[in-house]
Amino acid sequence: MASISAKILMALSGLFLMGFLLVHLLGNLQIYAGPEVFNAYPETLRHYPVLLWTARVLLILAFTLHILTSIYLSTKNKAARPVAYAQKHSVQASLASRTMLLGGLVILGFLLFHLAHLTWRWVFPEYAALDLYTLTVLSFQNSLVAAFYVLAQVFLALHLSHGFSSAAQTLSLTRWCATTFRFAGYAFALAITLGYVSIPVSIWLGLVHA
Ligand code: HEM
Repeated sequence: MASISAKILMALSGLFLMGFLLVHLLGNLQIYAGPEVFNAYPETLRHYPVLLWTARVLLILAFTLHILTSIYLSTKNKAARPVAYAQKHSVQASLASRTMLLGGLVILGFLLFHLAHLTWRWVFPEYAALDLYTLTVLSFQNSLVAAFYVLAQVFLALHLSHGFSSAAQTLSLTRWCATTFRFAGYAFALAITLGYVSIPVSIWLGLVHA
């Protein structure tokens, strides 16, 4: 019973986080419209502090719930199988499902780096006083930073695509609905990833400049 509730909470918090990823991507893609448009979007948000902080609190709650339920469920799964398998039969498991925990940890590590980079502005103190557009563009000219963002988005894509399959199972959708949901999930994961990856890559290639 507790496991079912945990799975439902995990699926719902995951769906909420996907909604955030989509809205955040739409905001970020405005970088292609130039500095005035890109710098205006966080400024507009800051004019509505109640809205901004409600979104932030919901986001922190969703992240916390998602992480805690994943720890709870993986601990329960291990406890249900006290004797480890002699051989790990992961041939049939997809790459995405085998990398859920690792992927989750990489995404968490990425998120902390990302906040330190663009929100708290600690990573490049020499750019800290610049506007958000210039800070973003100059820092993605650094190959290591651009490569780390791209790598993190690949883990995010695997995590999202498997997350949709799991959510379809948890929400007990009919076979037809589950298949449609799963394919919609793959399309969503691919579109989101391409959108995010396009930003560091196009800056690194010099297609977007300060
Ligand atoms: C190429 C990819 C990305 C770019 C260019 C980008 C860009 C940005 C920028 C410019 C900010 C700072 C906004 C501000 O200070 O007002 C920000 C904040 C943030 N980003 Fe990203 N982002 C990317 C990917 C992601 C991903 C994949 C996630 C989640 C896994 C994420 C989660 C966040 C969060 C939680 C914040 C803090 C929002 C707040 O101020 O409350 N970002 N991002």
